[in-house]
Amino acid sequence: TAEDMSAGMVGFWPEPWLPRSLGSPGLALAAALLLLLLCLSARRTRRRGEPPLIKGWLPYFGQALKLQKDPLGFMISLQKQYGDIFTLLLGGKYITFILDPFHYTSVAKNQKLSFQIFTNKFLKRVFSIKKMITDSDLIDEIHSTYQFLQGKHLDILMESTMQNLKQVFEPQLLKTTSWSTEYLLPFCNSVIFEMTFTTIYGNVLAYDKKTFIAELKDDFLKFDEKVTHLVSGIPIELLGNIKSVRTKLIKDLTIESLAKLQGLSEVVQRRNDILEKYYTPKDTEIGAHHLGLLWASVTNTVPTMFWAMYYLLRHPEAMAVLRDEIDHLLQSTGQKKGPGFSIYLTREQLDSLVYLESTILEVLRLCSFSGIFRFVQEDVTLHLESQDCCLRKGDFVVIFPPILHHDPEIFEAPDEFRFDRFTENGKKKTTFFKRGKKLKYYHLPFGLGVSKCPGRFLAMVEIKQLLIVLLTYFDLEIIDNKPLELNYSRFLFGIPYPDSDVLFRYKIKP
Ligand code: HEM
Repeated sequence: TAEDMSAGMVGFWPEPWLPRSLGSPGLALAAALLLLLLCLSARRTRRRGEPPLIKGWLPYFGQALKLQKDPLGFMISLQKQYGDIFTLLLGGKYITFILDPFHYTSVAKNQKLSFQIFTNKFLKRVFSIKKMITDSDLIDEIHSTYQFLQGKHLDILMESTMQNLKQVFEPQLLKTTSWSTEYLLPFCNSVIFEMTFTTIYGNVLAYDKKTFIAELKDDFLKFDEKVTHLVSGIPIELLGNIKSVRTKLIKDLTIESLAKLQGLSEVVQRRNDILEKYYTPKDTEIGAHHLGLLWASVTNTVPTMFWAMYYLLRHPEAMAVLRDEIDHLLQSTGQKKGPGFSIYLTREQLDSLVYLESTILEVLRLCSFSGIFRFVQEDVTLHLESQDCCLRKGDFVVIFPPILHHDPEIFEAPDEFRFDRFTENGKKKTTFFKRGKKLKYYHLPFGLGVSKCPGRFLAMVEIKQLLIVLLTYFDLEIIDNKPLELNYSRFLFGIPYPDSDVLFRYKIKP
């Protein structure tokens, strides 16, 4: 069945544990058998009408290792050799990559290509959510809650984000004006986690609020670190204490535990109403659903904030323009900076900060390595403007926007950080061209079609507000100004983390 086919789908990465574990005879044998199986599966030949087929000399490790080392470089070299569509054998799975942005719509709109089959597997492996696979009503109802992340509901979330930022930073603002030095990644982890958790799940009333949030964050990070291993199908029992960490997180997010928090967002309240219809109150899968939402809301927002800060700290000229833009808005809305924390901005005012928005879009352009996955449910022919392309049942198709994001024909000097790239005459720039034609899609870090991120507006609002607070109240400086590389272990699954960290310092502006 499609479900069985997708079972190994997400597991095409040579996980770091695999080579190391070859020391154990049992696992070595298992690995040898796996390799044999994969070699046998690599006997497929290209059929008429199908895209070029690239199997590599060693089906499991060959392509995947090259991809993980330098994904963009490797994909560009394949593009030069084979064109904009090709099928790659990765870890025993045949994956057709779609690189031409003018072909995206044909994939996104094709009913025979399923996103849900991919998601179901993911939810089962990572969060141990099983009901979604069998219950399409539950899927639909959960999806209906995403409206509470948008429109007028977003205004409420935005207000609560600012309140929560106030709680995070007010104690700092009352402190002396000396420099505090920190590593950037833990700083972003703490602030984004606290801000997001309290915005979506509410405030902890207990006196030990800080400890509760800090422990939850530490468990969350331990779990998040192992998500790609879980996606790859490695049994959770082989991942140290991750099973107990996940169980604890799920316990912290049951309806009973959430009842102790004050100010649950509408999206969580509605989610609870729905989950209570489908599960008995004590069912642990309820907490697993919440862990899924918490994970989705934090896992990409942290590295995006990290890279935004990193680029701004390394580009003081960009930081100065943003400071000016924000100061100007605060002044024109009568919000002179006084002692303590007192910023209030409407959505409209936030949206008027075009350089701030452009900076975040530019960071996402440079750093997003998400693929947009679909499962081929039955043999299908895509009718593309230049050619027809046959896809085989049981394969996967991936739209791969990083190639678009780094295309020099669309974005001049694509490897450079240009904070104002998405502005034009002081306004947001939305027209980009390829082959002389205007592009419908030129920036896709949040996915496309049915799999488009429902939290994208909240993510932008959170990052903007946090940057506004930091730039308004603090002087910020990088200490070890060294170039960082992206760590591609999550390649195809979101925004990569850095391969190491940098120190920075901040102090309250005089
Ligand atoms: C910069 C930050 C973010 C980025 C880059 C991002 C990106 C994405 C992408 C690419 C997907 C599609 C996944 C796929 O195709 O498999 C996705 C899904 C999702 N995102 Fe985000 N996201 C971000 C922040 C958020 C936030 C703040 C929330 C808040 C609730 C959120 C909630 C979700 C949810 C619930 C889904 C799953 C939707 C479904 O059921 O199909 N995301 N995100």
